Amino acid sequence: MLSASSLQEYTKPIRGDLDEFEGKLTDYLRGESPLIVSIARHLLKSRGKRIRPAFLFLSSRTADNFTEHAVATSLAIELIHTATLLHDDVVDESHIRRGQETVNAQWTNLISVLMGDYLFAKAFRILLEAESIALMNAVATASERVSVGELRQIEETGNYDLSEEEYLSIIADKTASLFAVACESGPILKGRAAGDRDRFARFGEKIGTAFQIADDLLDFVGEVEVTGKEPGNDVMTGKITLPLIYSLKKAGNAGRREVSKYLKDGDNDASFEKVLTFVSENGGIDYAYDKARQLSHQGLEAISRVRSSSYYDSLANLVEFATLRAS
Ligand code: IPE
Ligand code: IPE
Ligand code: MG
Ligand code: MG
Repeated sequence: MLSASSLQEYTKPIRGDLDEFEGKLTDYLRGESPLIVSIARHLLKSRGKRIRPAFLFLSSRTADNFTEHAVATSLAIELIHTATLLHDDVVDESHIRRGQETVNAQWTNLISVLMGDYLFAKAFRILLEAESIALMNAVATASERVSVGELRQIEETGNYDLSEEEYLSIIADKTASLFAVACESGPILKGRAAGDRDRFARFGEKIGTAFQIADDLLDFVGEVEVTGKEPGNDVMTGKITLPLIYSLKKAGNAGRREVSKYLKDGDNDASFEKVLTFVSENGGIDYAYDKARQLSHQGLEAISRVRSSSYYDSLANLVEFATLRAS
């Protein structure tokens, strides 16, 4: 698995862009009330990986699509991402994120939801700086897709018959959508032809899907000290992800009956161990890693026309990080 230091290494060529991003983010989050200020401070202290901005900068620079509006666009996308996390942690009743208490745990669900709304609004205001209706359209569509994906996932909670195809479509909406728009924004802002836009959108879509599969794998194989999130939280609360989908299909009826006792046992460490053994023994972990690798490969193929450059090499490494990451 790849560690946070690999991420540092792969993002070296865009260090300047990421520093500018970080500086502007701090400025934007100065806040309009003491409560907003303290939550913003909490969010800034527990920095995320900034992987969507990294994809935006590298995919833009590798194809000469970097413009003066790239940083503002990356900020808007990261703020939307952060807003969705504040909402998601309420939905998932999560208590830890980025190795510290979630906003819903430290404050309340209500505050987490409202702060999420505030960040959404802020994001769209920042996006106006780019003065691009095409970009507004793409970001609005991606935001809608995140909500659709999250709502569909709630609908499917506890549905152990969920198919791989349905799962992939849910995660494409809830996660790949923001990666796709991050990668498509360069060609949009540069006014490139539709074909170029589509290729980068497709790249982001594939990579974002692989990224979520990797995230779902970390619920089985991750360590809280590294991921900053509790393993087993998803599977033991009825969230059905690829390793389990594959293993349930593979195990057949007898195996299913056996594991369903544990799955329905709520958030219990001993039951999670049983579920983990079931999933590993039935090949669900390996299968999901293979699927993530395959999607990464397809993503890179979509932009194979791009000439090789140091940016491209970092981008290809970042793709590998997205699928094999430990956090
Ligand atoms: C977490 O995203 C939510 C998913 C879509 C899997 P990240 O793993 O990018 O979260 P941070 O921003 O680095 O914490
Ligand atoms: C992340 O979903 C939130 C969105 C993509 C909107 P998950 O629930 O799968 O991710 P974590 O594990 O909480 O980060
Ligand atoms: Mg969730
Ligand atoms: Mg969650």
